[in-house]
Amino acid sequence: MNDKQLVAIQAARHVQDGMVVGLGTGSTANYFIEELARRHREEGLRITAAASSVASTIQAREQGLPLVALEHLGTLDLYVDGADEVTSNLALLKGRGYDLVREKLLARASNRFIVLVDKSKLVGHLGEKFPIPVEVIPFAWQLVQASLQQLGIASSLRQNAAKDGWAITSHGSLVLELTLPKTLQSRELNQLLNDIPGIVEHGVFEELADAVFVADQGQVEEIWK
Ligand code: 5RP
Repeated sequence: MNDKQLVAIQAARHVQDGMVVGLGTGSTANYFIEELARRHREEGLRITAAASSVASTIQAREQGLPLVALEHLGTLDLYVDGADEVTSNLALLKGRGYDLVREKLLARASNRFIVLVDKSKLVGHLGEKFPIPVEVIPFAWQLVQASLQQLGIASSLRQNAAKDGWAITSHGSLVLELTLPKTLQSRELNQLLNDIPGIVEHGVFEELADAVFVADQGQVEEIWK
């Protein structure tokens, strides 16, 4: 069993009968969906699932999990997802995929948000390993870029996978990728990005995680807030 699978199985133990559970996106979240489906099938665990992306919707449906659409949701009991970077105060960088809008909605709406990573995702500050993804309304991208520039933050448009055009998210947004000055803390960055018109959502998840489960060579450490 690999580390991603291990940490996903540990998180699935926190799911109780009758819960409404948010499903994240990515390879680690897929293992969580797999284990939840196994418990549903073999142990009769009753849950309602809400998916954060088309990919996790398909995954959950194929494995027989009962799904509810986001528009029918008020709150969730638990949301479980991976992350790209995690700091010591549990700030997260997410959204290397194209689904951070739904991911943040689920994280915010959930009573408990558990994040699953391996040790390689732990960083000193957000943006250390990856640029910060910012979803922007297409016609506003240059205005947003100029606002960021005024704050001393350089950005460029994300290319699509084929590198022959710009990446478009599942909501029809463009994505600016930000290179940060090291001095900018996640709290300050979160506030700055929340305040710029034209930004649909961004990949800084501040004050949202309740716990981070860190896998390292077959061991899992649970860090609760
Ligand atoms: C997608 C995400 C993912 O959770 C993040 O990229 C981690 O992915 P993986 O579990 O495959 O390493 O934020 O938007």
